[in-house]
Amino acid sequence: ERSDHYMEPKMLRSQFDTLEIPAYGLHLNISCTPEKLVSIITKYHMMQKSEFGIIGMGVMGRSLALNVLDKNIPLSVYNRVDGNEAYLLSEFLGKADAKQVSGFTSMEKFVDSLAIPRKILLMIPAGAAVDAVLTALDPYLSENDIVIDGGNSHYCDTKRRHDALAKKNIRFLGVGISGGEQGALHGPSMMAGGAREGYDQIKRILEAISAKDAHGTPCVTYLGPDGCGHFVKMIHNGIEYAEMQLLAELFSILKQRLSYPKISKLFREWNATELSSFLLEITATILTVKEDNHYLLDRILDTASSKGTGAWSAEAALELGVPASMISASVEARFLSMLKEKRVNASQKPDSAAVTPEIDLDVVKNAYAFARLINHYQGFEIIRSASGENDWHVSLSEIARLWTNGCIIRSALVSSLADRFKKNEDLMNDETIVRQMVRLEGSVRKLINAAFNSRIALPAFSSALNYWYALTTGNSSANLIQAQRDYFGAHGYGRTDSDPGLSFTTDWSPHHG
Ligand code: 6PG
Repeated sequence: ERSDHYMEPKMLRSQFDTLEIPAYGLHLNISCTPEKLVSIITKYHMMQKSEFGIIGMGVMGRSLALNVLDKNIPLSVYNRVDGNEAYLLSEFLGKADAKQVSGFTSMEKFVDSLAIPRKILLMIPAGAAVDAVLTALDPYLSENDIVIDGGNSHYCDTKRRHDALAKKNIRFLGVGISGGEQGALHGPSMMAGGAREGYDQIKRILEAISAKDAHGTPCVTYLGPDGCGHFVKMIHNGIEYAEMQLLAELFSILKQRLSYPKISKLFREWNATELSSFLLEITATILTVKEDNHYLLDRILDTASSKGTGAWSAEAALELGVPASMISASVEARFLSMLKEKRVNASQKPDSAAVTPEIDLDVVKNAYAFARLINHYQGFEIIRSASGENDWHVSLSEIARLWTNGCIIRSALVSSLADRFKKNEDLMNDETIVRQMVRLEGSVRKLINAAFNSRIALPAFSSALNYWYALTTGNSSANLIQAQRDYFGAHGYGRTDSDPGLSFTTDWSPHHG
């Protein structure tokens, strides 16, 4: 009817011909009578499908499920019923609001209860269990369904699974979820990677259940393809290992002079400064907890276990050729702690020269600030290198922002890094940081001297200082290594008086003897 604009019927036809009918939702033939349409819609609502599904009702799975229900998202949950998992599902259903959740012990019925495309989150232990559940799911999934692995899977496994499922047009995502039980329940930090189209369809749900940063923005982002999300979560855990180790080392030295309540008080004071962090806060609390009038800490065996992410971070750093000495030192400290029997047998009385360390609390505080900076620097450098290597193009600022709330390593430092990385992704190009390191390094030296004089091992602190000294030494002794390599293997070396890209070799034998 418009005079200045019309579309020929055949053009309109071509639009209908290329229209893709969405796979989701209810499709109605509008030539039916209105009564008929209403009756179809009513029936559909009565058999309403769940919007989201979770497999695995362990601690993290059930906490996330409660979080999803709290956001009024209709949910189906699945858990197998065998062995020590016999009651997990029924226990969860007993606690949850029955109107919003359906529980299943049959994989087929669970999958069938979900709206298409199905959105299924796996909250099961990393490793073989993930492959087993994917195999069990396989016969019931259809194209475009979305499967999310929310566990601490190795990023290479995630890539393998992503690629295998992509061949079947199943959208697979590896999402690192941090924050422990409380985070899962009230809002975790989430690092997503994998099938982008899949992420776009679950984004609304993940954002609803996530922690929020200081500006109210959800602490969840799509970071990159295949294993990218799990890689970043792995490095989060690597940094977590070193942060925990630093606090354990501080404890080992401070307890020589201070009572537990005094150390706790000191940590609480620090927690009101730029040193504040979730791990510092919980450590202050742990130091006060008593059982039958004894500190619980004194009854906990000094053998620290690990599930793998710390060691994987160190391995990844080695593969990329990025020095991450603090993560390695912290993983090794846990390994060493496991050698309890050996340690007890070999334990020495402090030698006569060993003294109770003199502790200057400002020195300790400065040393802690220094080592945390190095730890975060090393961790982010691994991510920066992996991102370059794999073309992920991740933003370190965005990763730091994700870690400002909900996750285990949330801290004032991480929040400040979210801003700093906007200007400079390499902290060693950030003059304020470098000046701070220079100002603090003397304190680490003093702390290490005091500890070593008292036979107290400080692997994470000393690796931080060694790293810093090496990084800030313009002329190192690596020329000798090059000469040795050339001597026994003619591996070649670059020369100071020539183009550094050129390789020279020397016949060293005439100089022998
Ligand atoms: C988190 C934690 C969480 C867990 C890890 C580390 O971010 O919420 O890192 O993933 O604590 O399993 O555990 P291990 O110390 O046992 O390796």
